[in-house]
Amino acid sequence: MEQPIPALKLSGISKNFGAVSALTEIDLEVHPGEVVALVGDNGAGKSTLVKIMAGVHQPSSGDIAFEGQPVTLNGPSAALRLGIATVFQDLALCENLDVVANIFLGQELNPIALDETAMEVRAWTLLNELAARIPSVRDVVASLSGGQRQTVAIARSLLLDPKIIMLDEPTAALGVAQTAEVLNMIERVKARGIGVIMISHNMEDVRAVADRIVVLRLGRNNGVFLSTDSNEDLIGAITGASDNAVSRRAARRVEAPT
Ligand SMILES: Nc1ncnc2c1ncn2[C@@H]1O[C@H](COP(=O)(O)OP(=O)(O)OP(=O)(O)O)[C@@H](O)[C@H]1O
Ligand SMILES: [Mg+2]
Repeated sequence: MEQPIPALKLSGISKNFGAVSALTEIDLEVHPGEVVALVGDNGAGKSTLVKIMAGVHQPSSGDIAFEGQPVTLNGPSAALRLGIATVFQDLALCENLDVVANIFLGQELNPIALDETAMEVRAWTLLNELAARIPSVRDVVASLSGGQRQTVAIARSLLLDPKIIMLDEPTAALGVAQTAEVLNMIERVKARGIGVIMISHNMEDVRAVADRIVVLRLGRNNGVFLSTDSNEDLIGAITGASDNAVSRRAARRVEAPT
């Protein structure tokens, strides 16, 4: 049987910052409608990898394929044009603008971005699709909770109908109820056939939504796990405490299940 083509596939990606080797020979793939969690200790290289997929950083070496075709992501707009959207950890929202304005931020070339009513309708539609709990799209972002802000940032990333959405720590700093809402939103994004790459330090959140859990350690792949794998194996791969047997077992799962 033919293997399904990943929405995005990285092969042998390395990234050096001067003498610092941030990433070494990283392989990663995400399929349509799959949630891949990217986990690892501080400094493991997660954000650097996301920035490479977002076109913010250029890899020092390695290959990137989008829907089976080799691509060069030579800037953030190149990634966006292909349909690779990113919600960075700082969200980059404008506090003093309302929800509609934030969703359309930087979208001046979008055909409906000049029509206030059309923008408002589109904003509502996106938020409804996410089952978002935001009282009014005319609320200024400064009045919203952390979870609601995350929602606005996710809705904004959906505006261009992306194939991939990357979320850097979407539940960090959120309480239990807001975390549940954001995880529910990730399920909805996944159900639309979008591939999701989520960075998280919270293993409970990761286990709740991830189809595969990709561990980075010291800038290298250190195993791929499933939610059903033991916490001991997963934490062992993250901290480096696991023995080689666990790493070998996990290494066999670098390919997505078919
Ligand atoms: N612009 C840069 N210049 C130099 N070194 C960098 C740069 N960005 C990242 N690094 C280094 O690359 C390595 C990986 O960093 P990165 O931020 O990707 O880790 P991370 O897994 O996202 O960590 P955290 O969980 O703390 O966010 C670290 O050693 C970091 O110091
Ligand atoms: Mg980071």
